[in-house]
Amino acid sequence: MRPIFGFAASFALATPLLLAGCGGEGDIPQSLPSIPTTGSLAAVDAQAKDGKEKRKVVTPETVIDKKGVPKNVKEEEKGGEALSGPSPAEYLWQISNEKLIKDEPFTPVIPRGLQALTLNVYVPPANPLTKGKVELGKQLYFEPRISLDGTVSCASCHNPEKGWTDNAPVATGIDGQKGGRSAPTVLNTAYGKTMFWDGRAPSLEGQSQGPPQNPIEMGKQTYKQIVERLRGISGYREQFQKVFGTDVTLDGMAKAIAAFERATALSGNSKYDKYQSGDMNALSDSEKRGMVLFGLRLSGDDDFKTNVVLKKADCTSCHVGFNFTDEQFHNLGIGWDPEKKDFKDRGRWSVTPIGARWDKEIGAFKTPTVRDIARTAPYMHDGSLKTLEEVVEHYNKGGHPNPYLDKDIKKLNLTDQEKADVVAFMKALTGEIIKVPLPKLPAGPDGQTPNPASALTFSAAKPAFHLVESR
Ligand code: HEC
Ligand code: HEC
Repeated sequence: MRPIFGFAASFALATPLLLAGCGGEGDIPQSLPSIPTTGSLAAVDAQAKDGKEKRKVVTPETVIDKKGVPKNVKEEEKGGEALSGPSPAEYLWQISNEKLIKDEPFTPVIPRGLQALTLNVYVPPANPLTKGKVELGKQLYFEPRISLDGTVSCASCHNPEKGWTDNAPVATGIDGQKGGRSAPTVLNTAYGKTMFWDGRAPSLEGQSQGPPQNPIEMGKQTYKQIVERLRGISGYREQFQKVFGTDVTLDGMAKAIAAFERATALSGNSKYDKYQSGDMNALSDSEKRGMVLFGLRLSGDDDFKTNVVLKKADCTSCHVGFNFTDEQFHNLGIGWDPEKKDFKDRGRWSVTPIGARWDKEIGAFKTPTVRDIARTAPYMHDGSLKTLEEVVEHYNKGGHPNPYLDKDIKKLNLTDQEKADVVAFMKALTGEIIKVPLPKLPAGPDGQTPNPASALTFSAAKPAFHLVESR
């Protein structure tokens, strides 16, 4: 069993008990073909158990506490009765009725320079990309009705028009609470090994189910309320049946949103990628010098000569590979408070379980991609650096001194021209713009269809999602 930090782990803990109790139709309206629950996991569980054995069963009163431990469960002998009636598990997920599924595989166009979204490598086998799922995920991504007051969607803070972020230093949470962290771009998170600045979520699926799980973040609403609200929108119920063969569930929401992000939020085909695939004129002289300083060799086909020192800026120690990240956690001294001799936010350390922590993780954050970096200012986990010039200056002076500074952060002695070259190279990593036209959202029970654009002009003091999670 994984240690508890964040939702993914608590879900894993809660699951075995939840399985034992699911099964009822609950309050699913009957206007659509209902999903038979006889084949549900509850029944499977019941069959698998010895009749004499007492089992813990989830009841309608069951609540899952912050640690993911269900309270108000009751003990039952094996039998059918306990399996009927609404159960929290019904909102989390349901076993699918394959006959209802009407969807087809989806192969996204991968921009030049990025790897194919191979199943089992970048796409979890439990969540293959399908056409209807990606379309459903797009609607949910732009859906303000997921938030308590109907004003905030994922796109509020991760707007495709703003490099899939919000261009604000830090995002603002519920009741105007300032989150300490900047909204990272969703671009190329398809290739990410962990999610969040501290890596506490294991996957896009793990990330996207986190927000609705945390009542504090969602403006004191529960996943049950969210799922019930979406079940009130027949357009969503129909799509969930076609895509998953279930009613609206949290599991399906997480999968659809992740599939949309994975297939759409891709940044490649930059000037650098064109150069790499043989166009020696795609990069300017300054960009080429910057590339060499950054840590990458010139192409063997390039006649360009320069005497800048390869790897002088040493960025590829961490921003490495096709997505320019080692997926590791490093301390650059960002957010160090010299008076308190501590970090405002300890980052990776805070989500590492007791017993597994080491000092090196204090103030360490995930190396972000530098693809499309010109579009995603301001920079760093706290949004404290406004421009790429400031970022390069930060590295040039050797970061902020602190006891846990990464060994690869040291004074660089770059000339002004060299600093400008490194910035120029990073700008050459700006990807081709993939337009994401806003989806048409399904009409609600009131017949109203919200305009997804309304949530894009997001201002402070609105309910937010996972800003204060597990810290
Ligand atoms: C109020 C602003 C806000 C909203 C709304 C929001 N996010 Fe975020 N998102 C953030 C912040 C801030 C972080 C970084 C938090 C951290 O690292 O602790 C983040 C992190 C992420 C990440 C991790 C990216 C990475 O590189 O690690 C993904 C993916 C993401 N959000 C997707 C979503 C989705 C999907 C939704 C809707 C369900 C959503 N966000 C809603 C602000 C927001
Ligand atoms: C020791 C590893 C390491 C090295 C070397 C390194 N980086 Fe970083 N980079 C990181 C980490 C980690 C972060 C996020 C740090 C934080 O927010 O606290 C980051 C953040 C950034 C950001 C901001 C990204 C964003 O989305 O906010 C840019 C731009 C950047 N680095 C460019 C560079 C350049 C240019 C170099 C070379 C001069 C370089 N990095 C060298 C690890 C490294």
